[in-house]
Amino acid sequence: MILLTGATGYIGSHTWLELLGDRYAVLGLDNYSNSSPVVLDRLQALARQPLSFVRADVRDPLALKDIFARHPIRGVIHFAALKAVGESMQKPLQYYENNVTGLIHLTQAMAQAGCRHLVFSSSATVYGDPKSVPIAEDARLAPTSPYGQTKLMSEQILRDLERADPSWKMAYLRYFNPIGAHPSGLIGEDPLGLPNNLVPFLAKVAVGAIPVLKLYGNDWPTPDGTGVRDYLHVMDLARAHSKAIHYLFQKGQSMTVNLGTGRGYSVLEVIRAYEKASGRPIPYEIVGRRTGDIATCFADPSLAKSILGWSTQFGLDEMCAHSWNWQKNNPHGYA
Ligand SMILES: NC(=O)c1ccc[n+]([C@@H]2O[C@H](COP(=O)([O-])OP(=O)(O)OC[C@H]3O[C@@H](n4cnc5c(N)ncnc54)[C@H](O)[C@@H]3O)[C@@H](O)[C@H]2O)c1
Repeated sequence: MILLTGATGYIGSHTWLELLGDRYAVLGLDNYSNSSPVVLDRLQALARQPLSFVRADVRDPLALKDIFARHPIRGVIHFAALKAVGESMQKPLQYYENNVTGLIHLTQAMAQAGCRHLVFSSSATVYGDPKSVPIAEDARLAPTSPYGQTKLMSEQILRDLERADPSWKMAYLRYFNPIGAHPSGLIGEDPLGLPNNLVPFLAKVAVGAIPVLKLYGNDWPTPDGTGVRDYLHVMDLARAHSKAIHYLFQKGQSMTVNLGTGRGYSVLEVIRAYEKASGRPIPYEIVGRRTGDIATCFADPSLAKSILGWSTQFGLDEMCAHSWNWQKNNPHGYA
């Protein structure tokens, strides 16, 4: 059985389905701090079976101890974390407390239960402002936000744990920019409040919930002056998790890999693709740069391909079409 923390969140929910498709038994865990119980209903409808779920917090050692005592958990995929870069600048302690303390309690419970296979959600934010692109895994690590620091610290904690006890096997997955939704339109990204990321923001503008998109700077050193990012489909990302846990079980070797397409798109290119997908104009206004933002960021994903045999299958048009399909069918998200 695989324990999925943050299971009802955006990436966790898509990964849950992928794992079931690969015939893994899954136990989902979430405290619903950034997701809704409705996700579980949708997942059960899509999976056509009841799913095992526990509402718990990864910072609760007693709850974790109980979960590991009751279930034969062989590996953990750890998504549960706070993830908004901007918010982490306002509330750094909340981010360190949730993301780092949560990881420590989780790994302590795993160690006590003799479970030592862990897939960890890291992020391209560990690279900060890269010296060059594409970014390979051995690039300098210099996060520019408390959120990015929590991911780097978590990686360091896990690497120390591996050094102390080599029976631990870890997959450090550094995601670039996941977007899109399950093609059914039943599950997708549902940010609370004002979205932090471009595509959920675009989706809200296209559906009429927000009047205008804020474009943070058009004077970046990029071909059209707007920021360039590596967007990958959440379904491709979900598939990488199933491959990663399989690899840990089969090969018994740790890995650190980037998960991205290897190609960057500018904000203006994404706006045009979203207009095409939705058939609606997206009004935008140029505002100042955000603190902590960078010009260009895209992955060298070749290591994931050689280790996991993984590469992305969906292009930008499909990502935007699936995002729009989710948004137009669920204009108020899971509410
Ligand atoms: N979405 C991205 O752009 C992105 C990029 C890189 C890395 N990541 C990482 O991937 C992981 C999943 O991201 P997501 O986009 O699905 O985020 P999300 O917020 O949709 O999902 C995270 C889930 O974890 C839960 N959670 C948070 N703290 C918890 C706690 N203490 N105990 C139990 N549950 C808790 C939330 O309720 C939520 O359902 C996170 O670790 C995030 O940092 C995300």
